[in-house]
Amino acid sequence: MKFSRTLSYSSGVLRFLDQKRLPQAVVTLKLRRWQTVVSAIQALQIRGAPAIGIAGAFGVALAARQILGKTAKPASIAAFLKASKIIREARPTAVNLMWAVDHQLTALGKAGLLIPGAAAPCIEFLEKNAQAILEEDLSIGMKLAEVGHRLIQDGDGVLTHCNAGGLATAGMGSALSVLYRAKEAGRKFTVFVDETRPLLQGARLTTWELKRWGIPHILICDNMAAMLMKQGRITKAITGADRIARNGDAANKIGTYGVAVLAHHHRIPFFIAAPYSTFDAGTLTGADIPIEERSAEEVLSFHGVPSAPKGTKVYNPAFDVVPADLIRALITERGLIEAPNDVKVRAFLAAASRAAV
Ligand code: MRU
Repeated sequence: MKFSRTLSYSSGVLRFLDQKRLPQAVVTLKLRRWQTVVSAIQALQIRGAPAIGIAGAFGVALAARQILGKTAKPASIAAFLKASKIIREARPTAVNLMWAVDHQLTALGKAGLLIPGAAAPCIEFLEKNAQAILEEDLSIGMKLAEVGHRLIQDGDGVLTHCNAGGLATAGMGSALSVLYRAKEAGRKFTVFVDETRPLLQGARLTTWELKRWGIPHILICDNMAAMLMKQGRITKAITGADRIARNGDAANKIGTYGVAVLAHHHRIPFFIAAPYSTFDAGTLTGADIPIEERSAEEVLSFHGVPSAPKGTKVYNPAFDVVPADLIRALITERGLIEAPNDVKVRAFLAAASRAAV
């Protein structure tokens, strides 16, 4: 399947499409410092669970370059570990970020390379390991597409929320990769794209991707989905996820829970596509998933223009949680987890961890 890479890295430079500038401008940013990786993640210039995980992994490599220098000393090793912790905590909900940073440090520890002395082997190791995470994300995107595309039939109206496409990953996507593969397989369907207030990832990013793929799509405001479901125009819903708890509850962009409730009411199957790095064995249920709260400014304005009186109180959670019993199936690289629950998710995680990078 054709796709373009969203992130790439060479010789101490992380390159990525600035998602704040899309769709008005297609700008590739170059980052050389771990601190700017953290701020790009926090500003949503790099966003989407798998993409921030990959960026975090390269951020750790950049931190090693910057902090360890040519010769690692005990103090610089401590500073490097502190920087890695800051990268790990750049955003709290998507577990892919924590997974990727932990994966870097665990692999480094196992290789015995974080020791005083020449730093080059350590830096090279972290760069290669981050590249492996990126390549694995691309191949998982292909597998999600293969597993999920059979769910899409001619005549479907597929609702999606936020952006779970190439931009949110290394380049293939999760929920949208399913639709790209379905299109490639000749299926004729229409995608309904929730604009996804307050930051409009659906309007700005998902429509941009679907247009490039030549997939018919219709942009709707978030509050229109119910009516379209009642009219029978939406026949399936599919999103990505930021963290899936051990019982199958799944956090995703704010508004996804509403989509799942509406789908349930209208007897429309609701699917979530996600790689194993989005599953969190350490989180028992959705209630344990930390939900990021973002600034009031995001709600008080629309495209930089004030849309409410100054000083209006705001609540701005960036994610919500879909309970497992509203999910028809989780689409994973190892197949569908239908009617997900604790037992099925644990079995998936056990198989995935045996095969992990
Ligand atoms: O705040 P964002 O834009 O990073 O939120 C992203 C989402 O909620 C996506 O749906 C999710 O990360 C899945 S990406 C494959």
